[in-house]
Amino acid sequence: MCGIVGAVAQRNVIPVLLEGLKRLEYRGYDSCGIAVFQGAELQRVRSTERVAVLAEQVQSQQLEAVTGIAHTRWATHGAPATHNAHPHFSGHTGHTRIALVHNGIIENHEALRERLTKAGYVFESQTDTEVVAHLIDSLYQGDVLQAVKAACVQLHGAYALAVIAKDEPHRLVGARNGSPLVAGLGEGENFLASDALALAGETSQIIYLEDGDVVDLHLDSVQVYDAQGEPCQREVHTVHLHAGEADLGPYRHYMQKEIFEQPRAVGDTLQGVEVVSPELFGAGAKEVFQNIDQVLILACGTSFYAGLTAKYWIESLAKVPVSVEIASEYRYRDSVPNPRTLVLTISQSGETADTLAALKHARKLGMENTLTICNVASSAMVRESKLAYITRAGVEVGVASTKAFTTQLTALFLLAMVVAQVKGQLSAEQEADLLRKLRHMPVAISAVLALEPQVIAWASRFANKEHALFLGRGMHYPIALEGALKLKEISYIHAEGYPAGELKHGPLALVTQAMPVITIAPHDALLEKLKSNMQEVHARGGELYVFADANTQINSSDTIHVIHMPEHYGLLSPVLHAVTLQLLAYHVACARGTDVDKPRNLAKSVTVE
Ligand code: F6R
Repeated sequence: MCGIVGAVAQRNVIPVLLEGLKRLEYRGYDSCGIAVFQGAELQRVRSTERVAVLAEQVQSQQLEAVTGIAHTRWATHGAPATHNAHPHFSGHTGHTRIALVHNGIIENHEALRERLTKAGYVFESQTDTEVVAHLIDSLYQGDVLQAVKAACVQLHGAYALAVIAKDEPHRLVGARNGSPLVAGLGEGENFLASDALALAGETSQIIYLEDGDVVDLHLDSVQVYDAQGEPCQREVHTVHLHAGEADLGPYRHYMQKEIFEQPRAVGDTLQGVEVVSPELFGAGAKEVFQNIDQVLILACGTSFYAGLTAKYWIESLAKVPVSVEIASEYRYRDSVPNPRTLVLTISQSGETADTLAALKHARKLGMENTLTICNVASSAMVRESKLAYITRAGVEVGVASTKAFTTQLTALFLLAMVVAQVKGQLSAEQEADLLRKLRHMPVAISAVLALEPQVIAWASRFANKEHALFLGRGMHYPIALEGALKLKEISYIHAEGYPAGELKHGPLALVTQAMPVITIAPHDALLEKLKSNMQEVHARGGELYVFADANTQINSSDTIHVIHMPEHYGLLSPVLHAVTLQLLAYHVACARGTDVDKPRNLAKSVTVE
């Protein structure tokens, strides 16, 4: 997704801007650009290549500047092309006065474009962003802060903006509404960014702007104005993101690194969990859990599949009914609100536009018992919720979610235990046993990671396939869905996940030798039924690739390939099976030579609708 970096300093900020863009690259983008002061003029360089190429272009022009803005763009309005890349310029008289970068979507851009065209502005791009640049220019009377404030009043939609004006070379103005933006505080220099990670190594003093905020940055001051335009104080957070956080280390890709970080990430997520206690989810959690009689989970993508898995856990352990909804659907449909609902949002980033909007929608419907499970403590979703549990996956750079998913599952299992405890459904013995198993997860995941060589041996057989089917039953059905999502997003093989019992109701028609059927075979109560489903595939010439727990008595033959997992891990088994499917997707993608960490068309954090 789009990324913003801005700086006002007394030194050359070009390395700061380019390094910041590099740190945001992982979020996905298709063009990039930078605008700085050159003497008394604004100058920009834009590219549809990677940030490294932009850096070469900047170097060849020998640019140096003390103030500037930079951007990575993920196209929404207008194709990925240089003329659509940010920064956008505006100047009514033909002389550039304003330069601007923007994340988000301006919903009333068409009406504004029409009005500004009539006022004489000429548009060079198809973007909604250029509209904002011209709007600010039309309101500019020598004070860029006032122009931005006046423009924001006219904008509908989500945005984070960073703006500089030709006649105010030591000033940078930002605005936030619905898209993340932070101000970074330095000594005699200040910064703006869409993610604090972009400023790692420059400053650890971060202000998370709130919706409606406009911020005015000079060399020695940072002043925030709230949605009413009044000066206000926002808390300064010390954020320890060291510059090496996003380093690849010995791994070939970030995704591989992050898959192998899972024992550490799950262990960290359980840090401080000595006993099963509602307070782990925040002050007042016990009362909230006592007062709810159902759970509504809202999420997107991989986080949605974590929610689907949690439904099995919460209903099984706590006996509380759970519904799981895709956030982008929930926010727009007529639903029947029940104030005794725990609204649970799950999100790696905590900024996903649809999930955030669904949370706000649920609150508007009168459901105030809200909990977010999230990897970013300062995110909008955490701030919007009454309760929170922060997973400690660390920064996830690969677009495909891996350690974020297993840490979400860890937190969700803990939640199921806590709700079960509050509802009087968990005996002390059961609680101790489940907690012991949960705490053992890092070791159990390490044992699964040791299967990597066997997965690599399978990967080349998938390299020339175009379709794949993933089967699971019960609480492994969401894991089949997640396995299919992982494979399709990074290898571009079309993949679908199905509950194995559903096979004969349609998808069996697709089974031929050309379509591998990946099967999750835990040693649980549904094993014999699953074996019958596997026979249905086998009898039709299908080729089965089975991840089978020890003692399942599923053995390899000509058309059945088996990787034996460690012993069955009870209710936590989905976490382990998720890891093998991540490895499979990763190595198949490597065998096909795709851009694993930055799959085409995708972005890491989806902050637009
Ligand atoms: C897939 C993936 C996405 C995200 C989804 C929600 O690998 O990463 O499906 O899970 O975009 O993102 P968050 O969890 O940040 O709300």
